[in-house]
Amino acid sequence: MNISIIGTGYVGLVTGVCFAKLGNKVICVDINEKKIEMINKGVPPIYEEGLEQVLVENKNRIEATRDYRYATQNTDVTFICVGTPSEDDGSIDLKFVEEAAEEIGKQLRNKDGWHLVVVKSTVLPGTTGEVVLPLLERHSGKKAGVDFGVAMNPEFLREGIAVRDFLEPDRIVIGYYDDKSREVLRKLYSSFSCPIVETLLSAAEMIKYASNAFLATKISFINEIGNMCKKLGIDAYEVADGMGLDKRIGRAFLDSGIGWGGSCFPKDLDALISWAKRIGEESNIISSVVEVNKRQPLKMIDLLKKHVPELKGKTVGVLGLAFKPNTDDIRESRAIPVVKQLLKEKAVVKAFDPKAMENFKKMFPQIRYCSSAEETLDSDAVLILTKWEEFKKLDYTEKIVIDGRRLLEAKNTAKIYEGVCW
Ligand code: UDX
Repeated sequence: MNISIIGTGYVGLVTGVCFAKLGNKVICVDINEKKIEMINKGVPPIYEEGLEQVLVENKNRIEATRDYRYATQNTDVTFICVGTPSEDDGSIDLKFVEEAAEEIGKQLRNKDGWHLVVVKSTVLPGTTGEVVLPLLERHSGKKAGVDFGVAMNPEFLREGIAVRDFLEPDRIVIGYYDDKSREVLRKLYSSFSCPIVETLLSAAEMIKYASNAFLATKISFINEIGNMCKKLGIDAYEVADGMGLDKRIGRAFLDSGIGWGGSCFPKDLDALISWAKRIGEESNIISSVVEVNKRQPLKMIDLLKKHVPELKGKTVGVLGLAFKPNTDDIRESRAIPVVKQLLKEKAVVKAFDPKAMENFKKMFPQIRYCSSAEETLDSDAVLILTKWEEFKKLDYTEKIVIDGRRLLEAKNTAKIYEGVCW
């Protein structure tokens, strides 16, 4: 199939590159010239494990442009993969989705033949049918379901393993407006062996939000249980293992610690809470999930103070700044509230992260950045905030270690060791 992808962020680029790997011809559209140039040279503008290799191997089937006309004229399906950032009140900002829909609509006006428009960006239930579809109709002067098709196909890609998540999904969700759109997406995904869920546009949108909210709920739930475990001298990981064997529960996403961050969970849960308010419904569970997650990182400071009661002037080594390992992404990283609090209490912060220091520097220029993980160990106490592989090899003997991510190597060797929930 000939596919165009609007937006070359991590979702758009991974989607485009993987569709090319599956044998499709792909045209990526972006407004950023530098990104376009890089993609055309076979260099991914973002770091994502395995992406460069797949891009290089399928270079003859993938190209990038800023030209919407060229992209829509030369493809049969267009995926909207632009960002949906948060407004200050947590609600979703649809500006980029709307712009993309308008542009595609304008191009459809001059295109002969049927075309399918698929929303992949994470949008609240109702958006594809009530915002995107009318914009497409207005700007094209054509009729959805007759002259062009509309579908919603959410992504479930984790940063760091997005290529694998795309190629080996647990399920594919196809929300469709018209039967022809469903048929085309069925064909596009025909080589996948996982279950395919076919549903209404709005149900597909909700499946994405509900999935992320549920995963975040599992983490906040086990963190709340973990806080009790800590007080009672119980290891929350043993509890998670014991619970996880129940097939109805499952062990995944029950790793307790200092909570969840990243570009999706925080933004999506805030959007869902603010949406619930707008439609006059309650979101008690989801709101509590967010509240637990706000408090959880500060447990590190409480535990630290057990051993170093006065933080003023003390040196605290911080291991890990990224929101999870194998990424340079610090969005909503749990390191942010922890470092903020350390600075508030006038501690001297020495930090190291294998990939995220440049990003963290922009937010916290005032802390010391170490050139190696070892260097942070020369401190009054050490906090482990991200579970990077290389932190396992450090020598923690003689150290006071407060661990937010369950690094067993530190647990087994440190002089004084405190885990957040174990
Ligand atoms: C998430 C979803 O998993 C993915 O399906 C969606 O498309 C985008 O959002 P991502 O943000 O890349 O992916 O990270 P993920 O691996 O899910 O981790 C999110 C956060 O939860 C991280 O901060 C991680 O450290 C934390 N986490 C995860 C836990 O604290 N405990 C766990 O058991 C699992």
